[in-house]
Amino acid sequence: MAINESAILKSELRWTLVVAGIVAVILGAILFAALSMHINPPSNREYVDPKTIHLSSEFTEANLGTQVDQNGRVIARMITTQFQFIPNCIVLPAETDVTLRFTSPDVIHGLLVTGTNVNTMVVPGYVAQVHTRFTKTGDLLMPCHEYCGLGHSQMVATVKVVPRDQFRPDAQGRASCGDRR
Ligand code: CUA
Repeated sequence: MAINESAILKSELRWTLVVAGIVAVILGAILFAALSMHINPPSNREYVDPKTIHLSSEFTEANLGTQVDQNGRVIARMITTQFQFIPNCIVLPAETDVTLRFTSPDVIHGLLVTGTNVNTMVVPGYVAQVHTRFTKTGDLLMPCHEYCGLGHSQMVATVKVVPRDQFRPDAQGRASCGDRR
């Protein structure tokens, strides 16, 4: 049975319209999410030289862990490296806006804090920053969730969330877990 050419053309045009319609709906959804719901890819880009982070950046050893700065902001800094977090425990106050900052000197790591929406990749050369507020107290597990080598499954840290009145930074504004393992 022969199909005539104009029927084929019509069928192709119909499918073109269907596909164009689907593309328009998807583009519309993306624009709606971006403009109306403010759902966008991360915009904050901060660079750090992975070769010198131990020596001269804000991630030198003395600067790691939890710190309350002059403006009262609570900031915790950690290095993710094969195959540990440094330090491997940070203490943070509950019901307080906190900033977590991470970087890596070697390979790509990732992390999440169980029971919260904290979840980020840590890429060498960049600072990964998370703003959050912990509502529950307790020792929260923070595993590496990006395969980074043979010791990946042993790479885990603790986020110790304490009630606000039990969060007592020292005179320099530093606070640590105390029993560092
Ligand atoms: Cu670090 Cu997996």
